[in-house]
Amino acid sequence: MFEKFQMAPPDAILGLTEAFKKDPNPKKINLGVGVYKDALGTTPVMESVKKAEEIILKNQTTKSYLPIPGSAEYAAVVQEFLFGSDHEIIGDKRAVTAQTPGGTGALRVAGDLLKQVRPDAAMWVSDPTWANHTGIFTNAGFEVKKYPYYDAAAKAIDLDAMKKTLKTIPEGDVVLLHGCCHNPTGIDPDIDQWGQICDILVERKILPFVDFAYQGLANGIEEDAQGLRLIANSVKELVAASSFSKNFGLYNERIGAITFVCDSSATADKLASNLKLIIRRNYSNPPAHGAAIVATIMNNTELKKLWQSEVKQIRDRIKEMRHSFVDTLKSLGVKNDFSFITEQNGMFSFSGLNKDQVDTLREKYSIYIVGSGRINVAGMTAGNMNTLCKAIAEVLK
Ligand code: LMR
Repeated sequence: MFEKFQMAPPDAILGLTEAFKKDPNPKKINLGVGVYKDALGTTPVMESVKKAEEIILKNQTTKSYLPIPGSAEYAAVVQEFLFGSDHEIIGDKRAVTAQTPGGTGALRVAGDLLKQVRPDAAMWVSDPTWANHTGIFTNAGFEVKKYPYYDAAAKAIDLDAMKKTLKTIPEGDVVLLHGCCHNPTGIDPDIDQWGQICDILVERKILPFVDFAYQGLANGIEEDAQGLRLIANSVKELVAASSFSKNFGLYNERIGAITFVCDSSATADKLASNLKLIIRRNYSNPPAHGAAIVATIMNNTELKKLWQSEVKQIRDRIKEMRHSFVDTLKSLGVKNDFSFITEQNGMFSFSGLNKDQVDTLREKYSIYIVGSGRINVAGMTAGNMNTLCKAIAEVLK
């Protein structure tokens, strides 16, 4: 029966990494997948992570199962990341957090739970959004709909169009928002715009679902949570997916979390029991190591400080690369205005390069960019900047 399969298309993002690895060109550049590279073009283990791992290895006494929702110590850390310490949501025990295999696992677990409680709800995602969002929620049984987000001409958020569509969304539907570092555009609402979005969510009784995979990569750990916290202060129920792939560099540990905020602790208890069933029937309980690293760092003053400085280095280097990219293109005589790139947040930018240009960059210059024109700025280095910009200058001619 398996012969019936046709070849499936490669993954829009991870498929590029596979192609990149096979490319023999020594000057190849991967600006596809959202993985941070340092100035030398490598993705090293963070110093704070190494130190935490030493502590974990020394003190570990068992490899027995974690509880179904994962480590409680880690869940407390996640809630602090989301809401800040001392938030009434935490004090009132209104939030339920489960440790999940990456942010993707969090999104899928939430999809399964929301489908049970609201079988007819649609999932609204931004246009454009992360290539995997639609697939995850479609597989969880959702009808996935789009709200406008990006104004290609202005290279900015199209707030009017977004608000217009949000105002038509029926009560109980789910709206997926990017907490910060919007993937793929790199364009986030400012605090005033968050306020306007939040007002509509409240008015229309729409369930906010914040995907928060890049906390700390825009302006700072606390700063990047401003939109989420504004929403959390205005609504009784919300969902948030966390990932520590990027801000702790824990990509292959698959460490994320799903958090549901409920109207009361009694509701939270009931939700938690149902969440456990979903997880048990899916992957039983999560792997331990990534959560142990995050919790060890965040509960150790010295390691936390070290980690904060490492995240700042990541943030600063990305910003530096944004400026260097724009300056280098200019110095090569490129007339197109790329200055918008310095205004964007996180790893990604929508370059404005079209599909043909992206294909030429890959085929002729071994430069790998997602088909939509999304570039991972964190893949740029002083070493590859000239090669990259010269090739882009060529395809823009
Ligand atoms: C990305 O968008 O490149 C990252 O989130 C990695 C992934 O899984 O797609």
